Amino acid sequence: MTISQLAKTIPPSPTLKLNETARILKELGEPVIHLGIGEPKSKTPIDAIISASAKLTTADIKYTPSDGIPSLKKAIIRYTEENYGKVVGPENVIVSNGAKQSLSVLLQTIISPQEEVIILSPHWVSYPEMVKICYGFPVIVTPEDGRFHPRMEDIDRAVTSYTRAIIVNSPNNPSGVMFSRDFIGEIVEYCEKKDIYLIMDDIYHKLIFDGKSIISCYDFTKKQTEKSKLVVINGVSKLFAMTGFRIGWAIAEKKIVEAMTNIQSATTACPSVLLQAAATGALGGLQSGIESLRLTLENNRNVMITELRTIDGVTVTKPDGTFYCFPDFRAYNKSSTELSEFLLEKVRVVAVPGVEFGMEGYLRLSFGGTVKEICDGIERIKWALDPNSPNEIYIGDRKLIRDWI
Ligand SMILES: Cc1ncc(COP(=O)(O)O)c(C=O)c1O
Repeated sequence: MTISQLAKTIPPSPTLKLNETARILKELGEPVIHLGIGEPKSKTPIDAIISASAKLTTADIKYTPSDGIPSLKKAIIRYTEENYGKVVGPENVIVSNGAKQSLSVLLQTIISPQEEVIILSPHWVSYPEMVKICYGFPVIVTPEDGRFHPRMEDIDRAVTSYTRAIIVNSPNNPSGVMFSRDFIGEIVEYCEKKDIYLIMDDIYHKLIFDGKSIISCYDFTKKQTEKSKLVVINGVSKLFAMTGFRIGWAIAEKKIVEAMTNIQSATTACPSVLLQAAATGALGGLQSGIESLRLTLENNRNVMITELRTIDGVTVTKPDGTFYCFPDFRAYNKSSTELSEFLLEKVRVVAVPGVEFGMEGYLRLSFGGTVKEICDGIERIKWALDPNSPNEIYIGDRKLIRDWI
């Protein structure tokens, strides 16, 4: 069998691989605690179900326009106006199979071979691979002060004549850190001055804590939509806990949306009409589910941070949003892959290695599950690593004795 040069450079998704291992272990009856999950546990909003069911019962399930059905576009336009204070037209909106497809189609639209895309570390695992699929070059920028907040001076040093785009994801997967209003203002201004695409991945933008308010990048742009290289990515996956529906979108200038639509049409035709109907229902329906999810996550965040801070030698930055935190475990193991494998093997806790997000020695832990999962998961991690914890632990009905430290 031969596979393409490109295929050889794309590894399996580390998070999906871990999910699969956890699923198999669970099926075998193992008491796995999944702190690697990338989705909230809440149920699909009822308005999404009603809307998709109504469409299904018409028995008229056909192709849609490649860039999305008009009613969903209308709902996205309203969402953008209400949450970003920005008025756009249907020609500025493209609906895709998840924010992931919007991002990858966007990169395929704007990146030519060898062109560079700046990715701010720590970063979502998929960005570098998406850039590589376009034969582009991912340039990872790590803040030199060791914090999780990007700095303009580090970005400016990395920008070259080949730089075509910068991806900003705030609040951030994996750190949960929300970038400051000043930074968002500066990066918008910087990209406009340098004529670089600025891709705002806002998929977690309303899942923020401590009374923080959403930051709209449009507050800082001086350009009209049709002359702007600012692109906003969003979707229903995280806010509405609708990851399985695979509906996301991009807001961009008309010419970019047209070119993206051509690529999307040539590859996947259109997102499913049923799932678009569900997303229309979610966006147009009761929004209180977002607030209750946000409140649950804020409480979960507090529990997770309190528990983590009881482990000697582990430091953690308090997340401002999302459902992830990114503690530093270098005091126990410099290799996050080794540590992740160790925790799964010894105490059946799933944690994603930080190296996959561009930072070695950290683990990404999700607080999207229940308080019990968080407390039990951290207790197991502490037991496995910290010699000051008791020598025995019960995992399910199994008694474990620590014989490695
Ligand atoms: C930062 C970031 N962007 C985009 C996505 C993809 O979202 P979707 O499910 O809409 O494809 C994810 C999913 O984990 C994410 O973490």
